[in-house]
Amino acid sequence: MNYTEMTKEIEKLKKEKDAIILAHYYMKPEVQDVADYIGDSLGLARTAAKTDKQTIVFCGVDFMAETAKILMPDRNVLIPYSRAGCFLADMIIPEELIEYKQEHPGVPVVSYINTTAQIKALSDIICTSSNAVDVVKSLHAKEVIFGPDKNLAQYVADRLPEVTFHIWEGYCQVHERITTQSILELKKKYPTAAIAVHPECTPQVTRIADFVGSTTKIVDFVKNSDKKIFVIGTEIGIAHQIRKKAPGKRIVFPKATPLCYNMKTITLPRVLAALKKNQFEVSVDKNVAAKAKVVIERMLAASR
Ligand code: 13P
Ligand code: SF4
Repeated sequence: MNYTEMTKEIEKLKKEKDAIILAHYYMKPEVQDVADYIGDSLGLARTAAKTDKQTIVFCGVDFMAETAKILMPDRNVLIPYSRAGCFLADMIIPEELIEYKQEHPGVPVVSYINTTAQIKALSDIICTSSNAVDVVKSLHAKEVIFGPDKNLAQYVADRLPEVTFHIWEGYCQVHERITTQSILELKKKYPTAAIAVHPECTPQVTRIADFVGSTTKIVDFVKNSDKKIFVIGTEIGIAHQIRKKAPGKRIVFPKATPLCYNMKTITLPRVLAALKKNQFEVSVDKNVAAKAKVVIERMLAASR
């Protein structure tokens, strides 16, 4: 079966199975093209939380699908590849967070959405790259524990100097590899370009950028800007929607192409198999899910 035939079959099965396909911007183009909604982590969580469909096929990494299941426990949530993980989410485990909390008694924990359900359940609130500053502000706290992404933490800390940040030493390997040198080389080559990067990039990179934001915000920035050329500091998958939504704009990426292998494990044949065979069902321990749900909903309320 070729991609056109697979796409047709997927569209047919979606109707038959009362399914919605949600996809992150880092998905392969052919996977994005069968999605009913494409968005950043916040948009995906919000869309999952309000769908009336019985089945949610989540084309993203596991923490995203888990979040959808926690928000909609009565729905059939499927991830087309069961081991699509996230390097960053693996950088914090419950035992470590419990110990860290004991070392900082009474300090609220703000966890990035890129974490397991257990970490969310141990947190006071979660945030995404799109709402991290607002979420921390909403706590009115003098100190916060922020993890696991040290780069996002520093980005937020730079904007809230009145708050003391206890920063977890985690990072995303994909964004960490985007260097200032690679960005500045492109800026030299294209002097009129605007630099738009994700807050998971290092502080050295975010500080030289013209725009820092979540994947959705980067797409919107390129679309709405008067500039014609953009240096993009995030995963290459975002190019597909930028080209669709801002066809007149030119985008360039750092030489060592930022590529998230985990995201690329979701392929079109696996999306088709997910719908055909009802695989792979996402499940979250009931007690953990109940605690994590409160924390996720707190974030949704803080960033309305
Ligand atoms: P966004 O929420 O900005 O899409 O980021 C998710 C992510 O994993 C970036 O690496
Ligand atoms: Fe995780 Fe980085 Fe991949 Fe995003 S790009 S899913 S943070 S490994």
